[in-house]
Amino acid sequence: MRVAAVLTAAGSGSRLGSDLPKALVPLAGEPVVAHAARALVAAADLTHLVVTAPPAHVVDVAAALAGLAPGGCRVDVVPGGPSRQASVAAGLAAVVASGDLAPADVVLVHDAARPLVGADAVRRVVAAAARHGAAIPGLAVTDTVKVVDDAGRVTATPDRRTLRAVQTPQGFTLDVLRRAHEAGRDRAHDEATAATDDAGLVEALGLEVRVVDGDPRAVKITTAADLALAERLLHEDAAPITTAPGGHR
Ligand code: CTP
Ligand code: MG
Repeated sequence: MRVAAVLTAAGSGSRLGSDLPKALVPLAGEPVVAHAARALVAAADLTHLVVTAPPAHVVDVAAALAGLAPGGCRVDVVPGGPSRQASVAAGLAAVVASGDLAPADVVLVHDAARPLVGADAVRRVVAAAARHGAAIPGLAVTDTVKVVDDAGRVTATPDRRTLRAVQTPQGFTLDVLRRAHEAGRDRAHDEATAATDDAGLVEALGLEVRVVDGDPRAVKITTAADLALAERLLHEDAAPITTAPGGHR
């Protein structure tokens, strides 16, 4: 079985408020997109990595990825579209055009905005996607979540035990992801109508999507506070293990 990945990095990062697109903002001295790409190639033996970039930054994103992928992995950087969904569709078109994948092979779709995802979660997604056609990493929800109407009135309180906060990478067989994007194509022109994740397009087709355990450290970088949290998590990893004299950590 072959595995390809579409890494979405074409957003502007408006909520982060940096001059640079979010994927190029430094995290521990290295662009966010480089961390995300490294996490994917460390976890899966990728045949092809396609990265979506802001159209004005294709060259910068390619430079940020230099030397990251192993020899057997083809890397392409393509301009993204007007929504995340449109960007994934552009990346998927490059995967299809390469002709490397069979319909039952797996395509991961990962957000550069989650640079800290661990290898175990990625591997769980690959295995479940190959088996079930579509798989996504999810975490139990600790907040109580309300459904509200436009006036701010609460209309429902879903049973928290039935809820999962979902992450990326999401994994699909090539056949399932192609069909889902094909069927949802008319929504992609605008972020307001577009699907916020790829599994949503698969669900709209009536196909099964399985949830596997996500990674609590795979925080999504949306605001400056998230970026600071990601920095702290990375520095915790890098910190030397100190042992008190004669004691335990
Ligand atoms: N993305 C993309 N193409 C777009 C919009 C988003 O490839 N047209 C990517 C982003 O680069 C990011 C992921 O999709 O890795 C998730 O999007 P989000 O976290 O919303 O990032 P931005 O759209 O860049 O941020 P913001 O919404 O704050 O502008
Ligand atoms: Mg966005």
